[in-house]
Amino acid sequence: ARIFVPGDAGALALGADKVALALADGLAERGLDAQIVRNGSRGLYWLEPMVEVETDRGRVAYGPVAAEDVAALLDTGLLDGGDHALRLGDPEEIPFLKRQSRLTFARCGITDPLSLDDYRAHGGLAGLEKAVAMTPAAIVEQVTDSGLRGRGGAGFPTGIKWKTVLATTDARKYIVCNADEGDSGTFADRMIMEGDPFVLIEGMAIAGIATGATKGYIYLRSEYPHAIRAMNAAIAIARTAGILGASVLGSPNAFDIEVRVGAGAYVCGEETSLLESLEGKRGQVRAKPPLPAHKGLFGRPTVVNNVISLASVPIIMDKGAAFYRDFGMGRSRGTIPIQIAGNVKYGGLFEAGFGLTLGEIVDEIGGGTATGRPVKAVQVGGPLGAYFPRALFDTPFDYEAFAAKDGLIGHAGIVVFDDTADMLKQARFAMEFCAIESCGKCTPCRIGSVRGVEVIDRIAAGEAPDRQIALVTDLCNTMKFGSLCALGGFTPYPVMSALTHFPDDFRPRAMNEAAE
Ligand code: NAI
Ligand code: SF4
Repeated sequence: ARIFVPGDAGALALGADKVALALADGLAERGLDAQIVRNGSRGLYWLEPMVEVETDRGRVAYGPVAAEDVAALLDTGLLDGGDHALRLGDPEEIPFLKRQSRLTFARCGITDPLSLDDYRAHGGLAGLEKAVAMTPAAIVEQVTDSGLRGRGGAGFPTGIKWKTVLATTDARKYIVCNADEGDSGTFADRMIMEGDPFVLIEGMAIAGIATGATKGYIYLRSEYPHAIRAMNAAIAIARTAGILGASVLGSPNAFDIEVRVGAGAYVCGEETSLLESLEGKRGQVRAKPPLPAHKGLFGRPTVVNNVISLASVPIIMDKGAAFYRDFGMGRSRGTIPIQIAGNVKYGGLFEAGFGLTLGEIVDEIGGGTATGRPVKAVQVGGPLGAYFPRALFDTPFDYEAFAAKDGLIGHAGIVVFDDTADMLKQARFAMEFCAIESCGKCTPCRIGSVRGVEVIDRIAAGEAPDRQIALVTDLCNTMKFGSLCALGGFTPYPVMSALTHFPDDFRPRAMNEAAE
């Protein structure tokens, strides 16, 4: 029998290693024969560490398991899926999982992340096998037809980006995977790299064949040590197995991947400063044009794609463009891994076709706040995303629908706040965050963010608040339209949404209260 204990960073933080140790000891003491597999997480974090056992009747889940529960679990017949207060039954039947459409995360939490046999047995490599038999143009066409858009946040059509690189004639081209997942409340990139690293390798290899690039880099943040380890181990296995190297799956295409570790600047998630950092320079934004697709890494044509964009490609190649495009709404096609975080009862990763409303996500799927207090605001799209009040909960999860409400989906992280949140403090935090993380290249962001903090402090101090509110609005306009990149350009979203939807919070209060 196989027992699955997640080795995912989220599960580890909740004690999964201790559970695995207790299980190994308990099995040995009882002379029981079972293999402990460290899998990825299914993304139901309130149930982690969630232990699963393979039985004759399928998998049975238990959770959240603590090391102290292990002896009793083994004594009540864990290996046969026996009864226990922590027994959750068939994991696929848990409503949070059952309601999902898991395409990109199909294997995450199910397979042994570093077993190529497991990967193949669950549909892995089928997409790459098809791709090696196709022309680059046909691959690009299939990705374009699928409607896949950049999952890093900007939502630019992936197929069109690939087409731009394919059309260049440079002898050297690169695939760069942006794994500098810096948005607050996001963890989809981390989860897939830890739970199913081969799917990213497969997606990058397909991107290489489609565009004529033979080298790929994964720019991975240093804050993700487990993902770094998983990716490096998976790359080594893929090389040995002939998936990477001089010949991808026996085809005439060469492709190899290297992991490069970032040093912790938020702005290095911006594609051009990421490229600077990859080249060994300080992570400072480059002006566009030229686009990275024309002149990217070391001046060569480069595809820069987010982890989830690349990890979604294998299933598109395997099942076809129409299969993928069938999910979603409007111009937002396919599925999106929504990351539900903050003050929420059921926090975790929920992959679904675009189109669920924000209210469904927060109230039904997330179960409302963990504190049990009313939801006041939800920040969607990271620290540069807008705060949505309850009045906008009918907004469907769709790039255009969010933009129409002065918000963004971004990397699909949502952070829930209850009615104790102070939106003036949140607005101040956005300006402060921008001031700290600014790369310093352009004036609206470098200086505007510092002035923004000061102006908000004056509102809190009751110094002519109406004039200060007019000033901060004007400043936000300047930052939005005058900044060189999204860091300065998007900071106005949290600030202005807080001001627009929660005007009552912008009242004078004790100075130390605002800065807290
Ligand atoms: P952008 O709209 O400038 O570009 C999007 C992508 O399309 C880029 O890769 C760009 O090079 C490419 N592109 C644009 N026109 C093209 C063309 N004609 N041919 C080929 N490629 C083309 O947006 P940007 O500044 O790259 O990203 C902003 C987004 O980043 C925001 O929407 C925000 O949600 C997101 N973001 C994500 C974070 C994360 O942790 N994942 C953190 C912060 C922001
Ligand atoms: Fe740098 Fe900020 Fe300007 Fe972006 S907006 S280029 S982070 S100074």
